Amino acid sequence: MTALLSIRDLTVTYRRDGSQVAALNHVSLDVSAGERFAIIGESGSGKSTLALAIAALLPRSSKVGGSIEWFLLSFGAKAPPSVLPDISPSRGEIGSFAVGSPPATLENGEGGVESAISPLEGEMSGRTEGGLTERKPLKSAAKPSHTPLGGRDIGFVFQDPSASLDPVMTVGEQIAEVAHTHLGLTWSQSYAKAKALLGRVRLPDPDAALRAYPHQLSGGQKQRVAIAAAIAAGPKLLIADEATSALDTIVQAEIVALIRQLVAEDGMTLLFVSHDIALAAELAERIAVFRHGELVELGTTAQIVASPRHAYTRALLNAHLGLDAEPLLQQSGASR
Ligand SMILES: Nc1ncnc2c1ncn2[C@@H]1O[C@H](COP(=O)(O)OP(=O)(O)OP(=O)(O)O)[C@@H](O)[C@H]1O
Ligand SMILES: [Mg+2]
Repeated sequence: MTALLSIRDLTVTYRRDGSQVAALNHVSLDVSAGERFAIIGESGSGKSTLALAIAALLPRSSKVGGSIEWFLLSFGAKAPPSVLPDISPSRGEIGSFAVGSPPATLENGEGGVESAISPLEGEMSGRTEGGLTERKPLKSAAKPSHTPLGGRDIGFVFQDPSASLDPVMTVGEQIAEVAHTHLGLTWSQSYAKAKALLGRVRLPDPDAALRAYPHQLSGGQKQRVAIAAAIAAGPKLLIADEATSALDTIVQAEIVALIRQLVAEDGMTLLFVSHDIALAAELAERIAVFRHGELVELGTTAQIVASPRHAYTRALLNAHLGLDAEPLLQQSGASR
């Protein structure tokens, strides 16, 4: 499979109350184009940090070392070399967006320099910004391409759909804006696209939903809107960071099914971040297990579930198996 992105030696340190918090420690992994890839681990293991690093949304105060190299062949243009992500909204501020911006500069290696470019904070609540990394090719049949472009290459869905949408903009405006900004459509074309997207994410009455404000929607409906906004520009990569964790079990299953369908229909690569190994097994083809900022195990879903190598993975499985063994095994089989 062709690599979509290649992460090497990624180290992220946050500053908190004058001390350094190591969130990721020399993480290396590749994500293939078109695959469904899950990142799992307990709270604080560095999952969101990895997702934010990929999307160039780490806080300015973070120190980042290593590289993230992209292979976005379909967009053609050759990019200037760029390095690790620098542009970020405040944590948790933005709910769904498409990423892309001029490359940012950051030193490689341990103790990389601090992020230098500030986010356009407060600009919009629902999307934008990022500068992503590109370094020398390490391992890929493809040549490295440009950095993710103009907001259309990465869509991001966060956990909290309430925080992810702008409360004073209609749903239609929020989705249409992504299409208008990143696809160069006219406003009327963008609204038409927004309506079609609301249908695709299966909101019951897309016309009414276009004119609705976020507070008029349920949590599950808001998350559907956030997903619609995230995919509006046709991203290559969809990142869902605990996108279903705030929802009840039934809605969670519906959203997982929706993500699976949209990813398949659009040929997107999926990065699914979850603390729930069963959910990850249901959706992903490969699973990366994180603990204390380290990648402790990486394998196919079937391998991780059937024969985990690391004690921590076994503990995660045991914790789940104690509750509900059968579905997890079935799901892992069904995920292929
Ligand atoms: N903005 C920040 N400033 C300081 N420390 C941070 C920041 N964001 C995360 N951390 C710390 O970095 C570590 C990794 O956090 P991260 O949010 O990546 O974990 P996570 O696996 O996503 O956890 P959760 O499952 O709770 O979402 C934790 O120790 C966390 O407290
Ligand atoms: Mg997280």
